[in-house]
Amino acid sequence: MRLTQRIIAMFVVMGMALVPQPVFAGADTHFPADWKKWKPLNTVMSQVGGLPGCDADVSSLPAIYQETVATYCALRPEGPGKAQVLVKPASVDAYTARKGKYANGENFILHLKDLKVIFVTGHKGGTPIYGAYTEDGQDITAASGPLATKTCITCHSGFTAFCSNGQCGRVIK
Ligand code: HEC
Repeated sequence: MRLTQRIIAMFVVMGMALVPQPVFAGADTHFPADWKKWKPLNTVMSQVGGLPGCDADVSSLPAIYQETVATYCALRPEGPGKAQVLVKPASVDAYTARKGKYANGENFILHLKDLKVIFVTGHKGGTPIYGAYTEDGQDITAASGPLATKTCITCHSGFTAFCSNGQCGRVIK
Protein backbone atom coordinates (compact mmCIF):
# COMPACT_ATOMS: atom_id res chain seq x y z
CA MET A 1 0.00 0.00 0.00
CA ARG A 2 1.33 3.46 -0.86
CA LEU A 3 1.89 5.84 2.02
CA THR A 4 -0.98 8.18 1.05
CA GLN A 5 -3.34 5.20 0.88
CA ARG A 6 -2.20 4.07 4.33
CA ILE A 7 -2.80 7.53 5.76
CA ILE A 8 -6.27 7.67 4.20
CA ALA A 9 -7.05 4.19 5.58
CA MET A 10 -5.87 5.29 9.04
CA PHE A 11 -8.17 8.31 9.01
CA VAL A 12 -11.11 6.20 7.86
CA VAL A 13 -10.61 3.84 10.83
CA MET A 14 -10.16 6.76 13.27
CA GLY A 15 -13.24 8.46 11.87
CA MET A 16 -15.35 5.36 12.36
CA ALA A 17 -14.31 5.20 16.01
CA LEU A 18 -15.19 8.86 16.59
CA VAL A 19 -18.57 9.02 14.85
CA PRO A 20 -21.36 7.80 17.19
CA GLN A 21 -22.85 4.53 15.99
CA PRO A 22 -26.48 4.88 14.81
CA VAL A 23 -27.79 2.38 17.39
CA PHE A 24 -26.53 4.61 20.21
CA ALA A 25 -29.04 7.41 20.79
CA GLY A 26 -27.97 9.64 23.68
CA ALA A 27 -29.31 12.96 24.88
CA ASP A 28 -28.70 16.24 23.04
CA THR A 29 -28.60 17.99 26.44
CA HIS A 30 -26.20 17.53 29.34
CA PHE A 31 -27.32 16.17 32.71
CA PRO A 32 -27.86 19.17 35.02
CA ALA A 33 -26.15 17.84 38.17
CA ASP A 34 -27.75 20.50 40.42
CA TRP A 35 -31.31 19.80 39.18
CA LYS A 36 -32.65 19.08 42.68
CA LYS A 37 -32.07 22.77 43.50
CA TRP A 38 -34.18 23.95 40.53
CA LYS A 39 -37.46 25.72 41.21
CA PRO A 40 -40.75 23.77 41.19
CA LEU A 41 -43.39 25.77 39.30
CA ASN A 42 -47.12 25.26 39.29
CA THR A 43 -48.27 24.21 35.80
CA VAL A 44 -51.31 22.31 34.49
CA MET A 45 -49.51 18.97 34.74
CA SER A 46 -48.20 19.66 38.24
CA GLN A 47 -51.70 20.72 39.26
CA VAL A 48 -53.47 17.72 37.71
CA GLY A 49 -50.96 15.62 39.65
CA GLY A 50 -49.15 13.92 36.79
CA LEU A 51 -49.78 11.50 33.95
CA PRO A 52 -52.55 8.88 34.26
CA GLY A 53 -52.74 5.34 32.90
CA CYS A 54 -53.99 4.36 29.45
CA ASP A 55 -57.60 3.78 30.59
CA ALA A 56 -58.07 7.36 31.87
CA ASP A 57 -60.68 9.50 30.10
CA VAL A 58 -58.70 12.53 28.94
CA SER A 59 -61.08 13.50 26.12
CA SER A 60 -61.86 16.86 27.73
CA LEU A 61 -58.18 17.91 27.82
CA PRO A 62 -56.44 19.91 25.05
CA ALA A 63 -55.13 17.70 22.20
CA ILE A 64 -51.50 18.05 23.29
CA TYR A 65 -52.28 16.59 26.74
CA GLN A 66 -54.25 13.74 25.14
CA GLU A 67 -51.25 12.94 22.95
CA THR A 68 -48.89 13.19 25.93
CA VAL A 69 -50.98 10.65 27.85
CA ALA A 70 -51.15 8.38 24.76
CA THR A 71 -47.35 8.57 24.35
CA TYR A 72 -46.44 7.92 27.99
CA CYS A 73 -49.36 6.06 29.67
CA ALA A 74 -47.84 2.62 28.98
CA LEU A 75 -44.48 3.34 30.65
CA ARG A 76 -45.96 1.72 33.79
CA PRO A 77 -49.21 -0.33 34.09
CA GLU A 78 -50.83 2.35 36.30
CA GLY A 79 -49.40 5.21 34.19
CA PRO A 80 -46.25 7.29 34.75
CA GLY A 81 -47.71 8.98 37.85
CA LYS A 82 -46.61 12.18 39.57
CA ALA A 83 -44.93 14.85 37.46
CA GLN A 84 -43.46 18.21 38.44
CA VAL A 85 -42.00 20.98 36.31
CA LEU A 86 -38.68 22.34 37.61
CA VAL A 87 -36.94 25.37 36.12
CA LYS A 88 -33.33 26.49 36.47
CA PRO A 89 -33.41 29.48 38.88
CA ALA A 90 -31.83 31.82 36.27
CA SER A 91 -34.54 30.83 33.73
CA VAL A 92 -37.63 31.23 35.93
CA ASP A 93 -38.42 34.72 34.62
CA ALA A 94 -38.07 33.55 31.00
CA TYR A 95 -40.30 30.50 31.66
CA THR A 96 -42.95 32.66 33.33
CA ALA A 97 -42.82 35.23 30.49
CA ARG A 98 -43.16 32.40 27.93
CA LYS A 99 -41.77 34.49 25.10
CA GLY A 100 -39.41 31.80 23.78
CA LYS A 101 -36.20 33.64 24.68
CA TYR A 102 -34.01 31.22 26.65
CA ALA A 103 -30.31 31.15 27.50
CA ASN A 104 -28.16 28.41 26.01
CA GLY A 105 -27.75 25.36 28.25
CA GLU A 106 -30.23 23.25 30.19
CA ASN A 107 -33.33 25.22 31.26
CA PHE A 108 -36.39 23.11 32.17
CA ILE A 109 -37.13 19.69 33.66
CA LEU A 110 -40.20 17.50 33.79
CA HIS A 111 -39.57 15.31 36.85
CA LEU A 112 -41.46 12.03 36.60
CA LYS A 113 -41.29 11.42 40.33
CA ASP A 114 -42.68 7.89 40.52
CA LEU A 115 -40.53 6.72 37.59
CA LYS A 116 -37.45 8.52 39.03
CA VAL A 117 -36.79 9.98 35.59
CA ILE A 118 -36.12 13.54 34.45
CA PHE A 119 -36.92 14.92 31.01
CA VAL A 120 -34.59 17.83 30.25
CA THR A 121 -35.10 20.68 27.78
CA GLY A 122 -32.21 22.96 26.96
CA HIS A 123 -31.38 25.43 24.23
CA LYS A 124 -28.47 25.59 21.84
CA GLY A 125 -28.10 28.55 19.50
CA GLY A 126 -31.68 29.48 20.46
CA THR A 127 -33.13 26.10 19.40
CA PRO A 128 -34.62 23.62 21.90
CA ILE A 129 -32.76 20.35 22.59
CA TYR A 130 -33.89 17.35 24.66
CA GLY A 131 -32.71 14.47 26.82
CA ALA A 132 -34.01 11.84 29.25
CA TYR A 133 -32.10 10.69 32.33
CA THR A 134 -32.50 8.72 35.53
CA GLU A 135 -32.48 10.91 38.65
CA ASP A 136 -28.79 10.14 39.17
CA GLY A 137 -27.75 11.06 35.65
CA GLN A 138 -27.79 7.90 33.57
CA ASP A 139 -28.66 8.85 29.99
CA ILE A 140 -31.73 6.82 29.00
CA THR A 141 -32.50 8.69 25.77
CA ALA A 142 -33.54 6.07 23.21
CA ALA A 143 -33.17 5.85 19.44
CA SER A 144 -36.95 5.53 18.93
CA GLY A 145 -40.18 5.45 20.94
CA PRO A 146 -41.31 7.58 23.90
CA LEU A 147 -37.76 8.34 25.14
CA ALA A 148 -36.32 9.44 21.78
CA THR A 149 -35.40 13.08 21.16
CA LYS A 150 -37.32 13.00 17.87
CA THR A 151 -40.48 12.13 19.88
CA CYS A 152 -39.86 15.12 22.16
CA ILE A 153 -39.30 17.36 19.12
CA THR A 154 -42.43 16.12 17.28
CA CYS A 155 -44.64 17.17 20.17
CA HIS A 156 -42.79 20.18 21.66
CA SER A 157 -42.24 21.75 18.22
CA GLY A 158 -45.36 20.29 16.57
CA PHE A 159 -47.97 22.01 18.72
CA THR A 160 -46.89 25.48 17.64
CA ALA A 161 -50.00 27.17 19.01
CA PHE A 162 -49.38 25.58 22.39
CA CYS A 163 -45.61 25.47 22.86
CA SER A 164 -43.21 28.39 22.68
CA ASN A 165 -39.68 27.49 21.48
CA GLY A 166 -39.74 24.16 23.33
CA GLN A 167 -41.76 25.31 26.36
CA CYS A 168 -45.18 23.61 26.51
CA GLY A 169 -46.23 24.28 30.12
CA ARG A 170 -47.27 27.60 31.58
CA VAL A 171 -47.23 28.94 35.11
CA ILE A 172 -50.61 28.99 36.81
CA LYS A 173 -50.91 31.68 39.44
C1 HEC B 1 -47.04 14.27 23.01
C2 HEC B 1 -46.50 15.46 23.59
C3 HEC B 1 -45.23 15.46 24.38
C4 HEC B 1 -44.11 14.69 24.20
C5 HEC B 1 -43.88 13.56 23.22
C6 HEC B 1 -43.13 15.17 25.13
N1 HEC B 1 -43.63 16.20 25.86
FE1 HEC B 1 -42.64 17.32 27.19
N2 HEC B 1 -44.37 18.28 27.70
C7 HEC B 1 -45.57 18.14 27.05
C8 HEC B 1 -46.57 18.99 27.68
C9 HEC B 1 -48.02 19.14 27.27
C10 HEC B 1 -45.92 19.66 28.74
C11 HEC B 1 -46.51 20.71 29.68
C12 HEC B 1 -47.02 20.05 30.94
C13 HEC B 1 -47.49 21.02 31.98
O1 HEC B 1 -48.61 21.50 31.90
O2 HEC B 1 -46.72 21.27 32.88
C14 HEC B 1 -44.54 19.18 28.71
C15 HEC B 1 -43.55 19.62 29.58
C16 HEC B 1 -42.22 19.32 29.47
C17 HEC B 1 -41.18 19.93 30.25
C18 HEC B 1 -41.35 21.04 31.26
C19 HEC B 1 -41.06 22.38 30.57
C20 HEC B 1 -42.18 22.80 29.65
O3 HEC B 1 -42.07 22.56 28.43
O4 HEC B 1 -43.15 23.40 30.13
C21 HEC B 1 -40.01 19.35 29.85
C22 HEC B 1 -38.62 19.68 30.37
C23 HEC B 1 -40.32 18.38 28.83
N3 HEC B 1 -41.68 18.36 28.62
C24 HEC B 1 -39.37 17.62 28.19
C25 HEC B 1 -39.70 16.60 27.28
C26 HEC B 1 -38.74 15.66 26.76
C27 HEC B 1 -37.26 15.65 27.06
C28 HEC B 1 -39.45 14.80 25.95
C29 HEC B 1 -38.94 13.62 25.19
C30 HEC B 1 -38.25 12.60 25.95
C31 HEC B 1 -40.83 15.25 25.97
N4 HEC B 1 -40.95 16.32 26.79
C32 HEC B 1 -41.84 14.67 25.25
C33 HEC B 1 -45.79 17.34 25.96
C34 HEC B 1 -44.92 16.40 25.43
